[in-house]
Amino acid sequence: MCGIIAYTGRRQAAKVLYDGLTRLEYRGYDSAGIAVLNGWRLDCIKRAGRVCAIADARALAGTCGIGHTRWATHGGAEDKNAHPHVCGKFAVAHNGIIENYAALKAELSDMGHSFSSDTDSETVAHLLAASYRGDLLDAVGRTVGKLRGSFALCILCTDFPDAVVCVRQKSPLILGRAADGVLAASDVPALGGCGEICVLADSRIALLTPAGAELYSFSLARLPCVFAPNTLRASVCDKGGYAHFMRKEIEEEGAAVVRTAASFDEGAARRLCADGFSRVFLVGCGTAYHSALTGARLLEEGLRVPVRAELASEFCCRRPLLDRCSLVLAVSQSGETADTLAAGRLAKKYGARLAALTNAGHSSLSRLADHCFLTGAGVEVGVAATKTYAAQLAFFYAFYAFLRGQKAAYLQKFAAAHRKLLSREGEIRPLAAKLTGAQGVYFIGRGADHPSALEGSLKLREVSYLPGAGYAAGELKHGSIALMDGNTAVVAVATQKELKEKMKTSISEVRARGAFVVAVTPFDDIPADQVLSLPACPQRYYPLLTQVPLQLLAYHAAVCRGLDPDRPRHLAKSVTVE
Ligand code: F6R
Repeated sequence: MCGIIAYTGRRQAAKVLYDGLTRLEYRGYDSAGIAVLNGWRLDCIKRAGRVCAIADARALAGTCGIGHTRWATHGGAEDKNAHPHVCGKFAVAHNGIIENYAALKAELSDMGHSFSSDTDSETVAHLLAASYRGDLLDAVGRTVGKLRGSFALCILCTDFPDAVVCVRQKSPLILGRAADGVLAASDVPALGGCGEICVLADSRIALLTPAGAELYSFSLARLPCVFAPNTLRASVCDKGGYAHFMRKEIEEEGAAVVRTAASFDEGAARRLCADGFSRVFLVGCGTAYHSALTGARLLEEGLRVPVRAELASEFCCRRPLLDRCSLVLAVSQSGETADTLAAGRLAKKYGARLAALTNAGHSSLSRLADHCFLTGAGVEVGVAATKTYAAQLAFFYAFYAFLRGQKAAYLQKFAAAHRKLLSREGEIRPLAAKLTGAQGVYFIGRGADHPSALEGSLKLREVSYLPGAGYAAGELKHGSIALMDGNTAVVAVATQKELKEKMKTSISEVRARGAFVVAVTPFDDIPADQVLSLPACPQRYYPLLTQVPLQLLAYHAAVCRGLDPDRPRHLAKSVTVE
């Protein structure tokens, strides 16, 4: 979380940085700040709130600067905790967590330093000031040697008015070369104007000047700095006429599924399977975990070996049975989720093979993994995962079909079903408004519908803040049915023929307790108060269809409550802390 950016070149830096920060805002929006060197002077504007809270910073003069947009970890969303942090001649923007900050802060306090924020990041600015003897790179080298944890840093020093030093250790940082200067940023969309990019590896220091970039190891040995063409178009951050990215990205799901199916890498799948393995773990967080639950069902059927989906954060809390015959497939749209990366590192530590399914080919996960599969969703800007979830499901269907020696033909037809589902938005909008009146909204499903219920509930909670949960329908009677009354709503996903009668029973049970029930189903005999009907498709593919009305329900509930679904409170798109 947090987005950082740096620029040095011929243009006014503040404008470049501000524009870049608006493209990084999905990584956190608790505060924002920009610092610019104007000759030997350092000007810094930073405030709590979104990037637009520092719109006046665009007027700062100077051609070299750094910027930050924050997702709070240490210290609240207040002006004093906004980056860049300044100490003496230094200004620092940081993404990550300095794990040993308390010890460093105590040491620095003993040396007479006083701190003005509650952040871990401010210690970096103080360490730089304490280490500096006139040689900028030397001070950076000595500082990073003392830091533990994850950090991407952009550093200014008033003695070097056109230089920025960037550091990467376990938090993403990418360099970009434009016609008028050099940039560094946490993600590629902020480098839209750059013709070439260079993804920094861990333990690297980059010195940026208008003349270009120099690369060093942490021990300050000079390394080659290789740029490659930037294939990402600058226009990806456009809402394209929609009120929100979330709605636009739901619209793009048909194309995302078709692209993912078309680009399924059979060669990589063949190589992966040729290795042979006796057990498989799919790991991910949030929505990626929900797609992994569906993926595990499909892959277990296709591979005929035990396949388990696990929360990446929990995977690392135990000692899973990992050995050279295990495969771990880490699922992450961003490829930067710290918990998922930690699970991947654990897999490698115990000799398991690591595969990745991600939407970001330049990500930390794709470089950590032995095999990398890419979804074809395109850049997703809305904080809630929508089209990337659809694309992950499409990947699992394509993989399943591959394992069965078939083609996932339905994926090519999905776009038509998707259009049909979107055309029912008029029905979903008033229903979403009705749900906002409930004291709790619970999602239930059985078998293949259980992950859909979990995901539908997560989506609704994260963008509309309506309380609720997703449950395995059969589990309700073991406790959670106590929640049901006339103020609750239940969304029942019922797409599996052999489980239909059991779902009907679960629905009757909650209706008997007064709950208002919405059924998401292709069947016409489900006893619900309202039915969102799904078009017919091969039964296995229903999770792909189900998520469309559920995402629309969440989206319209948020809009109905006057909330911004693209920027839900307390969230960030890329969760780079464990
Ligand atoms: C929910 C959502 C999150 C992410 C989770 C993992 O809409 O987006 O739950 O799915 O933070 O993110 P990635 O997939 O980037 O690892």
